[in-house]
Amino acid sequence: QDPRIEGIASTIRVVPDFPKPGIMFQDITTLLLDPKAFKNTVDLFVERYTGKDITVVAGIEARGFIFGPPIALAIGAKFVPLRKPRKLPGEVISEEYVLEYGTDCLQMHIGAVQPGDRALVVDDLIATGGTLCAAIKLLERAGAEVVECACVIELPELKGRERLNGKPLYILVESG
Ligand code: PRP
Ligand code: MG
Repeated sequence: QDPRIEGIASTIRVVPDFPKPGIMFQDITTLLLDPKAFKNTVDLFVERYTGKDITVVAGIEARGFIFGPPIALAIGAKFVPLRKPRKLPGEVISEEYVLEYGTDCLQMHIGAVQPGDRALVVDDLIATGGTLCAAIKLLERAGAEVVECACVIELPELKGRERLNGKPLYILVESG
């Protein structure tokens, strides 16, 4: 394992019982306070995806907006935000996904991604995998090939990886 990963893992704060009793919240804001850890995080992704002909980095609101853009800039790809409902002003396509209570939805601007695009999906964390699954569907509906999903943290106990239908998932830190 790359020696930078241990340093990154040590900056992630775990907050018990947030936002609800029983949840061990993985807080990446403490990673962002450590410039070396933040840079190493971005660098590890950039090293992996440089030269892979990725044309679009899709970041998932909100925390995917922190890690996605520096990766996109460094590898020379466009950045496309996948947003929560009613935030994007143009015409959108939508994908609903199931939460513990109720549903949520991600939207993407029509035309932002085109057939032939090679996409990397970026988020901070995969839990149940519902969010990433919706993101993959949006990109594939627009005709893109999803090359890989990349997250800083995986909660392996929740088996979110199994919901990605074999789509490759790259993570830096396993938690729990
Ligand atoms: C969190 C996290 C991931 C998602 C993972 O986002 O940032 O996007 O949950 O969960 P899943 O794998 O079970 O779908 P959240 O929707 O809480 O909001 P935020 O990123 O806007 O803070
Ligand atoms: Mg999120």
